[in-house]
Amino acid sequence: MKSEIVIQLSTLLVLQLNWNQFIAAYGITVLPPADLLVIDPGFLGQLLIRWTLPSSLEMVNCSVRFQLQYFNTYEDRWTTIRTTDLSYNAQFDLEKDVRVRVHTLLGGPCVNGSEVQSPGAEVVLKPPDKGSTGSKIKSLSCVFYWREFMECTWEKGEDEPEHPHYHLFYWHREMEMTMECPRYIESNGVRTGCSFPGDSLLEFTEFNICVNGSSADEPLRPAYFTLQIQNLVKPAAIETVSLEAQPNGLFHLEWLPSEGRIFDVCLEYEVESRQTDMLRNITRETTFTSLSMDPSRTICFRVRSRVHQFCADISFWSEWSHPSCPSETMEIYMPIATETIMLGVLVSFMIMLLVLSLCLWSFRGRLKICERIKGMFYVPYKTKRSFPHPSLG
Ligand SMILES: *[C@@H]1O[C@H](CO)[C@@H](O)[C@H](O)[C@H]1NC(C)=O
Ligand SMILES: *[C@@H]1O[C@H](CO)[C@@H](O)[C@H](O)[C@H]1NC(C)=O
Ligand SMILES: *[C@@H]1O[C@H](CO)[C@@H](O)[C@H](O)[C@H]1NC(C)=O
Ligand SMILES: *[C@@H]1O[C@H](CO)[C@@H](O)[C@H](O)[C@H]1NC(C)=O
Repeated sequence: MKSEIVIQLSTLLVLQLNWNQFIAAYGITVLPPADLLVIDPGFLGQLLIRWTLPSSLEMVNCSVRFQLQYFNTYEDRWTTIRTTDLSYNAQFDLEKDVRVRVHTLLGGPCVNGSEVQSPGAEVVLKPPDKGSTGSKIKSLSCVFYWREFMECTWEKGEDEPEHPHYHLFYWHREMEMTMECPRYIESNGVRTGCSFPGDSLLEFTEFNICVNGSSADEPLRPAYFTLQIQNLVKPAAIETVSLEAQPNGLFHLEWLPSEGRIFDVCLEYEVESRQTDMLRNITRETTFTSLSMDPSRTICFRVRSRVHQFCADISFWSEWSHPSCPSETMEIYMPIATETIMLGVLVSFMIMLLVLSLCLWSFRGRLKICERIKGMFYVPYKTKRSFPHPSLG
């Protein structure tokens, strides 16, 4: 990115030189674009920048492009774009000045193959001065739980007026207009946050939020935020972890990925092993085999997950799973569970056999139920017997 800016700055210098030479050589001035406008369609920061062709250019046999520069307040630097279009959409922080500059770039045969830049047309918009600075909410923190729903909460401003009534509005590019928060989160009768169901969310684009409102004495100063919600995912805690002791003091850990709408391939895990000291290992697998541990000491493991860097720039760690320690876990571990089930089956079978024999021997021919049970066992045998034996036939 840095080298790109340097290159663009140097081209700019070269162009400026060319332009001076050009005026000297041809006596023609390149005019900046006309009617530069910055239009706010009400999308909480997404502004439309529009301009028209300078009139003197319409006759010239030249290629015309525009160089648009705007001050990117999120990154605190100018962003430069070159386009042949007459409009551009860009994201701005409406709490700060909006600064836009557009130059005309002339190239082709009319300038002897070089490129010439006009002076810039410029627009600066000041944010509306509404409400005192202290009435603005302090911060907004949002978490996209399990990639299923999002919750945003805010902190009140430094000098919050009495009885504030907050509103939250949001917008993303698939919405025709802003909408108010679908479900407010309240604390002591004051709105402190908003819960967004999954169908109101859109990832990999600007998700714009404005928190404004009013109070008895004054309007509240609006606060603007723009989010990339794929970077706010927090997976659910891992529920199922199984632990198996292996020979030589090794432990084998296996778990199921977190529940929720996050693709399994996007998750990475951190395994914490706690004995005398604490070890943490990050892995993309859903299994982990520890290094040899001292078998005489208690050891516990827990696992948490997050979205890894190939699926999002950043992510929140999930909560830790419940600790798995050999003494506790081994009792509920699978092989033991299987044995218990098998034992249960065996005992039931033996009880059935006992009841059956009791029926057959003690109440023979008296109880219908015994007859039926007897039938169940004898009929197949009889039928089998009634078939002619192959060797006899
Ligand atoms: C414009 O430039 C092209 C070459 O790029 C040339 O063929 C054409 O004749 C020029 N037209 C005029 C009106 O000068
Ligand atoms: C245009 O370019 C040609 C070849 O590069 C050069 O000879 C000529 O002097 C240039 N004309 C002007 C006005 O700069
Ligand atoms: C808050 O912002 C929304 C969206 O821009 C706007 O429609 C509404 O009038 C504002 N409310 C107040 C009290 O400023
Ligand atoms: C876990 O991490 C520790 C320290 O970073 C490292 O020494 C150890 O080899 C890792 N264990 C495994 C099984 O990868």
